Amino acid sequence: MTKTVVGFSKLTKEEKINWLAEAFLSDNASAKTVLTNYWNNNKQLQQLHDEFIENTISNFYLPYAVAPNFIINNKPYVIPMAVEESSVVAAASLVAKFWQERGGFKATVISTTKIGHVHFIYEGNFEELQNYVISIRPKLFEATEEITKNMRARGGGILAIDLKNKTDKLPNYYHLKVSFETKDSMGANFINSCLETIADTFQKDGIEIVMSILSNYVPECLVRAEVQCKMEEFSDKNPYQSAEKFYRAVQIATVEPYRAVTHNKGIMNGIDAVVIATGNDFRAVEAGAHAYASRNGHYQSLTDCSIDNGIFKFWIEIPLALGTVGGLTALHPLAKLSLELLQKPSAKELMQIVAVAGLAQNFAALKALTTTGIQHGHMKMHLQNMLNQLGASPQEKEKLTRHFKDKKISYNAATEALEKLRVK
Ligand code: MEV
Repeated sequence: MTKTVVGFSKLTKEEKINWLAEAFLSDNASAKTVLTNYWNNNKQLQQLHDEFIENTISNFYLPYAVAPNFIINNKPYVIPMAVEESSVVAAASLVAKFWQERGGFKATVISTTKIGHVHFIYEGNFEELQNYVISIRPKLFEATEEITKNMRARGGGILAIDLKNKTDKLPNYYHLKVSFETKDSMGANFINSCLETIADTFQKDGIEIVMSILSNYVPECLVRAEVQCKMEEFSDKNPYQSAEKFYRAVQIATVEPYRAVTHNKGIMNGIDAVVIATGNDFRAVEAGAHAYASRNGHYQSLTDCSIDNGIFKFWIEIPLALGTVGGLTALHPLAKLSLELLQKPSAKELMQIVAVAGLAQNFAALKALTTTGIQHGHMKMHLQNMLNQLGASPQEKEKLTRHFKDKKISYNAATEALEKLRVK
């Protein structure tokens, strides 16, 4: 069987699977079973998923969970999360409860501007180019009027078109920096359509358009979330020392990039889970967040912390380009449900919720790291995965969960305990 194929996308789903099984999968009967087991019996729902992308042969599930008891700006929320990592939702729930008893989370949207560029090369005189931009600018707005009509009616649209000289970085390189307000939509398609239309109108001898595309770096689409409490409320045991140690952990992530990456990864555990559950683009959010973490010339923590006058404060500032209309938000039934659970938030409100999910996750990680260590909670949550992998029955899982309540958990320990139980 040849391992290359012509016209794969034209094959039916069954034909695609047959070809894959023959060409690449040794145990092709069980491979087919795995793939078809994940098909949805609801044909209409399956077709919807099939059509999200090309060459769909099955579905790849992530667990969908909720973390209750979040109070954000005095309003209660249940936060939906789609994530495979065992401890993420448990941590979110614990932290929600902790801060519920201490005034909850406060969040504010700082700005909502998104950016796109028409990148071009120009070998002529700069002043002439500047004059051309000034003269053509009204026509560039005019050319996009049809595309921006609905967005303008909602209070959004193109905010500015500016020429940027980048020739100190790359010979003859300039771009038009176009600023957008996209209201409740993430706006990627809207922005890219506007940019391509602008590029079509931006024609002059000597201008060579290279590309027109939005930027996923959105430092002007920024949200801040925060918690605070009196030092003595920080924990039941040694609150002052615990808060100081927590503060030091944040400082380390501010100065040491190796730690900052892991620290921010923990933040993204919470952020991505909500971004995915609400049908938003987590790759865009990830790219923008990490770029923002490097804004000062070195990679650093996205969260910060202060201890002043006996008050512990912990906050996050993060760029988030999110939508609550358009894209998958209305199309994916679970994304739609997530937004309903969140009481149909605006994009600004969703930015606040997602930032809170990131802050909460980081709070949980740092609290664990600076007290019991991370493995204690992680392994407790991971125990079920290990027992499933070892083929434990429901009764065995129940017994071993009880057995490990006060013991150190590892894969070896779980294997031994299961063996012992079976010998008994
Ligand atoms: C694991 O997914 C995330 C952590 O490593 C984050 C951190 O170290 O802050 C626990």
